[in-house]
Amino acid sequence: PKVTFHHDGGASTVDVHAGTTVMRAAVENGVDGIVGECGGQAMCATCHVYVREHCLSTLPPRSEDEEEMLECTAAPRDERRSRLGCQLTLGGALEEIEVDLPETQL
Ligand code: FES
Repeated sequence: PKVTFHHDGGASTVDVHAGTTVMRAAVENGVDGIVGECGGQAMCATCHVYVREHCLSTLPPRSEDEEEMLECTAAPRDERRSRLGCQLTLGGALEEIEVDLPETQL
């Protein structure tokens, strides 16, 4: 699987193992712009990403915890595209995802 992060007019694509989350993909590959303060437990909202439109149909629905945390993001929430990076696991239906990084996570 692959994750592409778009930021400041640039992009980084990283290859990851199935089972890796979007948040981990950034943290483990030194991609700036995702903090992941709570370690992936849907409790901090510092892994906020905007998923690109063409990838939305392959995503699982938001859990209640994710919905709640998305009310606490530092950058404005987008009703359709905002997700928590730690709740998006690569592999299976989600072989590839492209996300935009918000301006701030804190
Ligand atoms: Fe904390 Fe995703 S890492 S909510």
